[in-house]
Amino acid sequence: YYLGLDISTTSSKALIMDDQGAVVGTASSPHTLQSPHPLWSEQDPSEWWHAVSTSIRQVLRENDIAGQEVDAIGLTGQMHGLVLLSEKGQVLRPAILWNDQRTQPQCDEIHQRVGKERFIKITGNVALTGFTAPKILWVRENEPHIYSNARHVLLPKDYIRYRLTGDYAMDKADGSGTVLFDLPKRDWSREILELLDLPPDWFPNTYEGPEITGEITQEASEITGLRAGTPVVAGGGDQAAQAVGVGAVEPGIIALTVGTSGVVFASTPAALIEPEGRLHAFCHAVPGMWHLMGVMLSAAGSLQWYRDHLAPHMSFDDLLTEATNIPAGSEGLQFMPYLTGERTPYPDPLARGAWIGLTVRHGRGHMTRALLEGVAFGLKDNLTLIQNSGLGEINQVRVSGGGAKSVLWRQILANVLEIELVTVNTTEGAAYGAALLAAVGCGHWSDVRAACTDVIKITDRIQPIAEEREIYRQAYEIYHQLYPALKPIF
Ligand code: XUL
Repeated sequence: YYLGLDISTTSSKALIMDDQGAVVGTASSPHTLQSPHPLWSEQDPSEWWHAVSTSIRQVLRENDIAGQEVDAIGLTGQMHGLVLLSEKGQVLRPAILWNDQRTQPQCDEIHQRVGKERFIKITGNVALTGFTAPKILWVRENEPHIYSNARHVLLPKDYIRYRLTGDYAMDKADGSGTVLFDLPKRDWSREILELLDLPPDWFPNTYEGPEITGEITQEASEITGLRAGTPVVAGGGDQAAQAVGVGAVEPGIIALTVGTSGVVFASTPAALIEPEGRLHAFCHAVPGMWHLMGVMLSAAGSLQWYRDHLAPHMSFDDLLTEATNIPAGSEGLQFMPYLTGERTPYPDPLARGAWIGLTVRHGRGHMTRALLEGVAFGLKDNLTLIQNSGLGEINQVRVSGGGAKSVLWRQILANVLEIELVTVNTTEGAAYGAALLAAVGCGHWSDVRAACTDVIKITDRIQPIAEEREIYRQAYEIYHQLYPALKPIF
């Protein structure tokens, strides 16, 4: 068996996969999230460790599997979170997470110190508040007593690796999300570290996704029930591992995830970048590959908010059925899905949501449908940037995530994106990708592509409907003008 561990924002999940690639069982335990000041988002790393060790014990127990039967472990998790450790490996302050928005001044400082163009050229990205580098500068400027004791920088899942194996190590996909990497070189950029005046020895060795970074220690064995000496592979940040988990491991296959956030992910054979840094460009968890990615902050998150606050008495199914009866284009109603600000294509924490064009003719069904369509338009913005990035032909879009369970939403997405969407048999996302990387790491498959080809199968295909495509082209033209028009009042 292989174990995939996902340290996400909401929970830690443990997934057991057998040697045929079938999911045997999963268990998860929740995390809490702290926001001690506006714009802040933090978590206590010891909560992750507690949640993950509880989940490991539970998944082993419930599936009657002994620790000795687990051959290898893969790690994945929320990206970009800053974990600062002392010389002795003690956590110095709560982790500052990917959705924390406090660091705009530090992002500006980074662009000023390095030069924005040079920064994009080396790291593939602009400095955004969500990324790790500006968080380190924030601690240096605002908590010098913490900074002076820091000796190690880790990301969330790598803190769990440290607790499991005692090693300071990181995978290249998540490492590049710190924006301290030389992207083509797939490792820390000496130049950037120097210009930002950050000590190179705080940053651990980095590894390709399936490479083994260490082994379960005796102490971790006693806490988790795993066998001491079990190998742990590097794994990948959640988006790269999610892509592995649906088989988006070669150019031409796009992974589209409609979760709380919406992600359009494209594997690239070289370190492609979007010249203005509007797309994220990181390493893939597949050795020697990179990826481009657009991230919308509120995709299915918009629908969740809408249901919870405006239709709490209704089920998602009932809301979506009502929307099915409304014509494509929602009779002129538009929705802007920027409920928590936006990242791609508008890196603007102050962007806001809205329904535009309401008349007395519109009812709840229109509002629901316009919401689904607005999110699809936002995803089209992202896909268009990817299509214009020199990637070559896109053959297939593999859709996953909670939002993709809706037949209506999948059809709207196919019509708006004007591309065939497929669903696959694997639905456990990043944790499953991490388990596949573990299996590849200990030689069960020869490489990541071979593993994906062997276990991931297409289950459904959704073609665009020609008549609706035209309606959506016109509606998208209008959608496209909304953010620029409203930006001055946000
Ligand atoms: C990716 C990103 C999120 C987090 C949380 O850039 O910020 O996907 O990894 O899941």
